[in-house]
Amino acid sequence: MKKIWITGAAGHVGSALVRLLDCSRYEILATDIKEIDITDVQTVHTCCQQNHPDVIINCAGLTNLQTCEKYPDRAYQVNALGARNLAQEAQAIGAKLIQISTDDVFGKIQSIPYNEFDALSPRSVYGKSKAAGEQLVKDLIHRYIIVRSSWVYGFGKDFVSDVLDAVKNGGVLHVASNQISTPTSAKELAKVIIGFIKSDAYGTYHAVCKGSCSRYEYAKAILELTGHTDHLHVEPFVDESGTRPRYSVLDNLMLRISGMEEPKDWKDALEEYLKEQNL
Ligand SMILES: NC(=O)c1ccc[n+]([C@@H]2O[C@H](COP(=O)([O-])OP(=O)(O)OC[C@H]3O[C@@H](n4cnc5c(N)ncnc54)[C@H](OP(=O)(O)O)[C@@H]3O)[C@@H](O)[C@H]2O)c1
Repeated sequence: MKKIWITGAAGHVGSALVRLLDCSRYEILATDIKEIDITDVQTVHTCCQQNHPDVIINCAGLTNLQTCEKYPDRAYQVNALGARNLAQEAQAIGAKLIQISTDDVFGKIQSIPYNEFDALSPRSVYGKSKAAGEQLVKDLIHRYIIVRSSWVYGFGKDFVSDVLDAVKNGGVLHVASNQISTPTSAKELAKVIIGFIKSDAYGTYHAVCKGSCSRYEYAKAILELTGHTDHLHVEPFVDESGTRPRYSVLDNLMLRISGMEEPKDWKDALEEYLKEQNL
């Protein structure tokens, strides 16, 4: 039975994986920062030596953009050195590493989707630290898969829960109309990641739902699908802050040309998630 170690297992992506993975096929070691801090080299080493996972899925990360801007050292420590620690130890025991990354590694002003062969251009500390993590993984382990996704939601505090919380509180929600990307359900992303456990395909892959929208359109879709259009006024605004990429739609080129299954349309995935959660 294959042994899978999931780091950051309490987060959106990690918990979706824990739910979806078939326990009868895989032995699952799910840890979050309380059990194993991936920045602690010795703890990561001991965990690998004691458990000998076949696959490590790194879902741990400092993912809050504002926190990363405020604490850049910590952002690099978790998102770059944490990934390095796992890559080194995975290489030493012959495990495969699946590193989860983000559309925030792109930040150029453009309006066509980024594919896996486009040069990175991160703007924020978060994006730069994730790009650094990707590079360290590439440098340190042969058997790696980097899976980049965008606007992930599901099981926890995220944009979907923020909008629905705003419904409860009433009033007006101001949402950027000039941020364009693709909402992707953690479940759809987890399905792609699980595919990589089984396959012998390596490299960098984009895995986002089909289509794209502005954050404003995303908020409106959440309200429409939950029947709350009359309960909250969503006001579009132009975000001039510059930390978030304005356009960061990812093209799943590598999944497509490899003949691998792509995530479903973003609105269908959102509808499915909201129904499953009775929202
Ligand atoms: N959410 C998105 O929109 C999105 C989009 C694209 C890519 N991604 C990537 O997908 C991965 C997972 O994202 P997510 O949305 O599931 O994030 P998340 O919900 O914030 O989960 C990340 C988990 O990692 C934990 N963690 C933080 N520092 C750690 C450390 N040093 N050691 C071990 N665990 C640590 C966090 O604990 P605390 O909560 O206590 O900090 C949290 O439980 C990240 O690499 C992220 O960059 C996310």
